[in-house]
Amino acid sequence: MRIGLLGFGTVGKGVYKLVAPRADMQVVRVLCRRDLELDDAAVTHNFDDILNDPTIDTVVEAIGGLHPAREYVIAAMEHGKNVVTANKAMVAVYYDELLPLAQRMGVHFRCTASVGGGIGWLSELERVRRIETVSHVGGIMNGTCNFILDSMHRTGMDYKAALAQAQALGYAEADPSTDVDGIDTWHKLIISANVGFGVSLDLNSVPVAGIRNIQASDIENFKAHGMVCKLLSTAKQQDGSYSAYVQPTLCPAGTLEASVPTNYNLITLSGNTSGRQSFYGQGAGRYPTAYNVVQDCIDCLRGRGFYCSYGKKVTVINKLKLSYYVSGATDDALEERKALNWGDAVVTRPVSIHWMHQWLDAHPGAFIAALPVEE
Ligand SMILES: NC(=O)c1ccc[n+]([C@@H]2O[C@H](COP(=O)([O-])OP(=O)(O)OC[C@H]3O[C@@H](n4cnc5c(N)ncnc54)[C@H](OP(=O)(O)O)[C@@H]3O)[C@@H](O)[C@H]2O)c1
Repeated sequence: MRIGLLGFGTVGKGVYKLVAPRADMQVVRVLCRRDLELDDAAVTHNFDDILNDPTIDTVVEAIGGLHPAREYVIAAMEHGKNVVTANKAMVAVYYDELLPLAQRMGVHFRCTASVGGGIGWLSELERVRRIETVSHVGGIMNGTCNFILDSMHRTGMDYKAALAQAQALGYAEADPSTDVDGIDTWHKLIISANVGFGVSLDLNSVPVAGIRNIQASDIENFKAHGMVCKLLSTAKQQDGSYSAYVQPTLCPAGTLEASVPTNYNLITLSGNTSGRQSFYGQGAGRYPTAYNVVQDCIDCLRGRGFYCSYGKKVTVINKLKLSYYVSGATDDALEERKALNWGDAVVTRPVSIHWMHQWLDAHPGAFIAALPVEE
């Protein structure tokens, strides 16, 4: 395999290093914006040098973001090249374009590192689907949020201090919005549901709430009730209808989710014969992520393309009603739905997920967390 590598940052450099000693693949060109010299690959600032090199059969996209990543990946596929990427934003947002194009062009397209970093989550989902129906996917998919929530729980520190610590350790970016507002988890849930259920979820029908407004006093309230707060993603399919949402959720202390420490991920599926399976590990980092990119390259070499065929477009309808913990804002509509107070915060009677997220959109300073559902 002759690889054109786009980007030489955290993931790109890791891929370059892991590929270097291998006999079955070689990085022959690297696209970057800086001046860089490499021993065994030509560096270019011009993507066309990769696109128009007929000896390059595979493009590894590691520049991130939507543009020009989307345009480069589309052009690569149109030139008959396989594509491997860790870019969850691009795959989630342009799923309807990228997967049909890969199928039409007969090229391999894989993105295992885009969900779970070093965990082989998507490739395992692919195997599960070979013999059974997946009814549920979800879990803790963002290490940055888990690190912040875990630090707040363990030490009592406030959100700002926990975020600053995550940034100092390289777990959070200078602008942490994509992580703390739940967008990264949202992208990963959508890719997981698309692969697990063989559909294409309408992104805009999947509600998302993040952890930006959580306070140390919220954590104290949760502890007083034996709960631990996690940012959880959930997607389910039943009898042809689909539900999906991302929101802070209270997990009883001692459960698997509640026990996930620092920046780890815990991602779970439910299959109709194998039952519940959970995958735990490093959701990010140079080498865990590069590891799965290289695994994808090996899979391409072995003729394995995307994890499922392109499926029908579906709109999510969340019929489930949940009780929510709400702090940081209130109004008459919320008070009407109040069941009790935890400290100064309100706990609602069961309300629809749709209603709660709409209310949150109108109260951007508020924090919500779903109470656990009795199973
Ligand atoms: N880091 C992780 O642990 C991790 C885990 C899972 C998935 N991912 C995904 O992997 C992708 C890459 O992430 P990363 O952490 O490696 O990002 P990164 O460290 O910021 O690296 C991106 C690199 O791409 C370069 N680049 C950006 N736009 C470019 C362009 N138009 N032309 C040429 N080079 C360009 C950047 O160059 P400059 O240095 O000049 O800006 C930078 O070196 C993202 O989609 C991310 O979501 C990352």
